Amino acid sequence: MKRLAPSPPGSFFTGHLDRLRNDVLGLLVDATREHGDVVRFRVGPLVMHLVNHPDLVSHVMIRNRKNYDKASRSSDCLSLICGESLLTANGEVWKQRRRTIQPMFHRAAIAGFIDSIAECTQLMLDAWRVKARAGEPVDIASEMMKLTFRIVGRCLFGADLQKESNAVEEAMHVMVLHTYHRWRSILNAPSSWPTPGNLRFRKALADVDEIIADLISRHRAHPPERPTLLTMLMESRDAESGVALGDDAIRNEAITFLLAGHETTANGLGWALYLLERHAGWQKAIREEFQGACGNAMPTMEDLPKLSHALHVFEESCRLYPPIWAMERHAIADDEIAGFHIPKGSGVIISPYTLHRHPAFWEKPEEFLPERFEKRDHEAYYPFGAGPRFCIGSEFALAEARVILPMILRSFELEAMPGQSGEAEPAITLRLKDGFKVMLRERME
Ligand code: HEM
Repeated sequence: MKRLAPSPPGSFFTGHLDRLRNDVLGLLVDATREHGDVVRFRVGPLVMHLVNHPDLVSHVMIRNRKNYDKASRSSDCLSLICGESLLTANGEVWKQRRRTIQPMFHRAAIAGFIDSIAECTQLMLDAWRVKARAGEPVDIASEMMKLTFRIVGRCLFGADLQKESNAVEEAMHVMVLHTYHRWRSILNAPSSWPTPGNLRFRKALADVDEIIADLISRHRAHPPERPTLLTMLMESRDAESGVALGDDAIRNEAITFLLAGHETTANGLGWALYLLERHAGWQKAIREEFQGACGNAMPTMEDLPKLSHALHVFEESCRLYPPIWAMERHAIADDEIAGFHIPKGSGVIISPYTLHRHPAFWEKPEEFLPERFEKRDHEAYYPFGAGPRFCIGSEFALAEARVILPMILRSFELEAMPGQSGEAEPAITLRLKDGFKVMLRERME
């Protein structure tokens, strides 16, 4: 007799759909506390297993990864936006794309991005100064989206996308929520049907597609001096056939990197600033460290290793509020995990949000304690995933955090407006539900 993993009580017909819709983070955390490291969920006929122990994560993502691909429901939903791309592809297509794109994220390439990250941040701070003087609040969540979008535009596409940033922010929000709603529903209208949700999604996707098409054609007409992600994609050739990537494949990667490259980092920075606003001691520590390393100058790649307080604050906020709060895999064949049967075709969920609160691995898991990252190598820490599908942009994101957080704190003190809920909104990424509005106080440098 095959042993099924334990499961919280749910409805006979819909399973755990209600709580999954209304309080997915609470459902996952409670389930691991009550039922242990493997928990079975059901949404109508769909079965998923939450796997919540580093050894079991290694089983799925590394040791037995051949049995767990990304042909999952979440990848299907993401494919509505990205098509087949590095984020969603499997097998040979994934391997080739990863090989093509990887050099864009080598250390030397990242060193070349630092100036652009600092310049984009300085432009944002200059605009903030005007707002601070006029007594106008800013929404940090939205500002971080625009900033990281502009940075990705400059670093990966060699283009200034400032004027497109509002349109993309709105469109991305619509698309990210739409795909998440589809993921957590049992039945969805086919995406070709003209439902209000589908129409809103299509319009948002068309807006972003237009921006990308324009970006690609400008790039072809006037290739930037420094090679960009688009240059690499356009010049790449299949190892065997020598065939170049088609326009669709280039479009898919472009939209993937616009999405994955800004939305995650923006959420990570938004949460870090939310937590910093409540922990004045860490603001001071970051400012002093930055002053010691850079004085009043712009940071360089050589300064980054000296900015460990900023790094630890960012790592701790990604522990408490991991921008990617869940990853999903699809079981190709029957398997057994920790003695429990995992049927072919079922889903496996790995949730950094629950792993980062696992009481066996984290002391006082709900507290903000960046000093825990003075020790490296935490076993149950997966903000960037694990195994060969590990985030390709992790070093880029960590470099951005070490430049952006100290630059903001050097110039401003943040004071939260009354009534900021700090509520987490899990969509594909973990967002600040109502944003984070602050008044800015200029600091005299
Ligand atoms: C704090 C910021 C970030 C976080 C928390 C994050 C998180 C993640 C995670 C958890 C995965 C693995 C997903 C899975 O296994 O299913 C991933 C993959 C990926 N990330 Fe990131 N990411 C961040 C920043 C970035 C940036 C800056 C870029 C690009 C510039 C990027 C591009 C990607 C891509 C393309 C993949 C797919 C890699 C593959 O499957 O080979 N990410 N990211």
